[in-house]
Amino acid sequence: MPKPLGVRIAGTGRAIPNRILDNQYFVDRLDTSHEWILERTGIKTRHVIEEGESSATLATQAARDALDNAGLKPTDLDMILVATITPEYAFPSTAAIVQREIGAGTIPALDIEAACSGFMYGLIMSTMMLQAGVYRRVLVIGSETMSTVTDYDDRATCILFGDAAAGAIFEATPDASGPALLHHRMHAQGEGANILTIPGGGSRHPTTQTTIAERMHYIKMQGREVYKLAVKRNFEMVCDTLKEAGVSPDELAMVIPHQSNLRIIESARDKLNIPKERMYVNIDRYGNTSAASIPICLDECRRNGKIKSGDLVLLVSFGAGFTWSSALMRL
Ligand code: ACO
Repeated sequence: MPKPLGVRIAGTGRAIPNRILDNQYFVDRLDTSHEWILERTGIKTRHVIEEGESSATLATQAARDALDNAGLKPTDLDMILVATITPEYAFPSTAAIVQREIGAGTIPALDIEAACSGFMYGLIMSTMMLQAGVYRRVLVIGSETMSTVTDYDDRATCILFGDAAAGAIFEATPDASGPALLHHRMHAQGEGANILTIPGGGSRHPTTQTTIAERMHYIKMQGREVYKLAVKRNFEMVCDTLKEAGVSPDELAMVIPHQSNLRIIESARDKLNIPKERMYVNIDRYGNTSAASIPICLDECRRNGKIKSGDLVLLVSFGAGFTWSSALMRL
């Protein structure tokens, strides 16, 4: 096989838990309102796991769905990456469990921890391996059970998050003029570590009765600070990526942003003058599903015909770390 230069999406899939929390669920328990949540976030419902479901079960279901969509067998894969901040265990990796559950032999499997940018980091790193000819097909899944780390007494965070998994199988192709990752950016800035974090349960603050009493095992977020930076980075990412790639916003069939807050998405859309129908939004149904957010959008767009072969698509993420990234793809 000649040195592969292009990369195509062979298949995508998702797993959405059946249980739905609507805004009324929070109104019944906390000092909040449907109007506040909708106006400040754009969220109407989010899905959460039930007994027996976990990040590994969702990831496995999404992996099977992607394989089915691609018409491939688990043994056709060369590597599995699972992006998650809510892994099945501290170790082994959630990816190793997915590998076992789908029956993918002994191929390498590992987790990526880059919060809401995790799937993007996986997409970009796997593409580099595919383009280098190291592997032929890599499965990248984003899987999150945010409900397990959400403090349902904290009205400023609990309304935001949902559970889900989704992913894509990326495949090397010999033709550089066909499907490809045309340009990407990947960033991190550790100065933001304390602004959005789960402080307890790691080596800095191992789980004790005190860490539990102080609710340190839940997400702690300075929402306003995160919001301001997300708006800035989203806008910069789109501008810089398009400029560096020599592509104008009009040429994009779709922009798929991480779904963290409708106002963050709309701010970038308005400043860049991108028509509503070319900036994908599904936060109203799922809330913020962290690393699962972008691959859910990708899977929905592929299946409902909003993106098709030959289209230019721009994916953009921002999350804890802080981490942020972009990927300009020709499908
Ligand atoms: N219902 C009613 N009032 C509320 C609620 C609620 N659910 N939550 C907060 N408020 C109140 C606050 O107490 C505050 O009241 P005060 O003015 O009396 O003090 C007021 O509303 C405004 O609070 P802010 O935090 O300033 O509200 P803001 O408009 O910033 O919205 C939000 C909060 C939705 C959290 C927003 O800041 C946000 O979306 N931030 C970014 C989240 C994000 O992008 N996360 C990144 C990814 S997550 C990851 O990587 C894991």
